[in-house]
Amino acid sequence: MRPRYSLRRRVGWWLLPPLLIVLVVNAVLAYRSALDVVNRAYDRSLTASIKAVGERTHSLAGEIHVDIPYSAFQVFEDSAQERIFYAIVAPNGQLLTGYTGLAPRELPPDTGEVRIATADFRGEEVRVGAMKKRLYDPMLAGGDAVLIVFAETTGARTALARDLFLDSLRRQLVLIGAGALLIVLALASAFRPLLKLRDAIRQRDEEDLTPVEGGNVPSEVGPLIDAINHHMERLAAMLVARRRFLADAAHQIRTPLAVLTTQAEYGLRQHDPDEMRRTLASLLASIHSTRRLANQMLAMSHAEAINGLIGERAPVDFTAMVKEVALDLVPLALKKRIDLAFEGADAPVTLQGNAAMLREMVANLVDNAIRYGPPDSHVVVAVAEWGDEAVVSVSDEGPGIPQAERENVFKRFYRILGQGDTEGSGLGLAIVREICWAHRGKITLKDGEGGRGLCVEVELPLA
Ligand SMILES: Nc1ncnc2c1ncn2[C@@H]1O[C@H](COP(=O)(O)OP(=O)(O)OP(=O)(O)O)[C@@H](O)[C@H]1O
Ligand SMILES: [Mg+2]
Repeated sequence: MRPRYSLRRRVGWWLLPPLLIVLVVNAVLAYRSALDVVNRAYDRSLTASIKAVGERTHSLAGEIHVDIPYSAFQVFEDSAQERIFYAIVAPNGQLLTGYTGLAPRELPPDTGEVRIATADFRGEEVRVGAMKKRLYDPMLAGGDAVLIVFAETTGARTALARDLFLDSLRRQLVLIGAGALLIVLALASAFRPLLKLRDAIRQRDEEDLTPVEGGNVPSEVGPLIDAINHHMERLAAMLVARRRFLADAAHQIRTPLAVLTTQAEYGLRQHDPDEMRRTLASLLASIHSTRRLANQMLAMSHAEAINGLIGERAPVDFTAMVKEVALDLVPLALKKRIDLAFEGADAPVTLQGNAAMLREMVANLVDNAIRYGPPDSHVVVAVAEWGDEAVVSVSDEGPGIPQAERENVFKRFYRILGQGDTEGSGLGLAIVREICWAHRGKITLKDGEGGRGLCVEVELPLA
């Protein structure tokens, strides 16, 4: 048996790693967008600070006045720990107030627009915003716009972005956890009817071959149950056939054993050696027919066992096989001076089947023809290929089988009475039909040539 795998584990493997990958990708994206949102909010307040300073910067007769309101440093209430740097630079490049060395990487345009970028200041990452404010004072040297620069360390931004990110991550993990739990519960509920079914089958009686009740199993399992029930049906049929056969066989074997016992007892009571010898001879004949009965019963049980499920199927050279069987039976034919003829097909006829069983089948047919044919008559065994079928026919010149008996003779232990003293167990044709069916073939009983004798025809599909 192949090692079993757990459906739960397989579903888990299929779901969890992809979900985790999705989670990681999603986390990266979530962090980025959180940072983006936070930056936008903080930048807006940075812009407001710069603009507020701009509004309070004036120039009078070449002298610039700067008034930085306290509110300009209150970027966000909770960002008290943030440090803010600033620089106001006169048009001539002179630092009016603030930190030296604080300058944007790119100068903003003269239109009064605020440009914001990320930069480094004194070894710290900062967001730098810069604006040029025109003062419209002709007395100023080197132009009339002051440069207002505000920079803010980014710690608070990243902290806020991280908080937002962790929050969404937590929510996603809860979602995935809930999903996994639901899947486990769904699988458990899907398996419950199957486990019930298993218990029901386990608790069955050994010989209980009635169909399994599907109950409320999932529709996907329906075909499996149908298949099991189909199999059960076949097993039940086989079991019934077996039982009947066993009963029949026990009944049939009793008679010859009783005869043997009587013959032996009679022989023991004799004093005359001649009479003893005669008794022994008839005892031997009884033993022969009992042996035949035993062999036929074995063949029958074997043929039944393979019915529907032929054991070793292999290509069989059917022509050669039938010819061999006929040759084997020539001595029996010679005893009755019967002319046993074989007519083979031109080309070899090959079919898939169980060689031993097919041999048994043909042997029984030829044996019947010789047994029931009159002395000095003819028996013809022929093999042919018709379309996609191999056909073997055995014809004799005996009494034939009347129409009314043609179904009965296939029954086990059935013999037509009043056919002289021909010995037999009544199993031959039952065996033949069983083997024929196992090979998905068809058997027909016909009148022999000119309405005389019997012609048995067996058609077997080639493929
Ligand atoms: N070729 C035949 N010609 C006439 N009757 C036949 C022929 N073959 C079979 N029968 C009839 O059909 C009956 C059943 O045949 P079957 O081969 O099943 O059993 P059997 O020959 O009696 O016993 P055995 O099991 O030893 O073959 C026979 O008893 C016989 O009456
Ligand atoms: Mg027979």
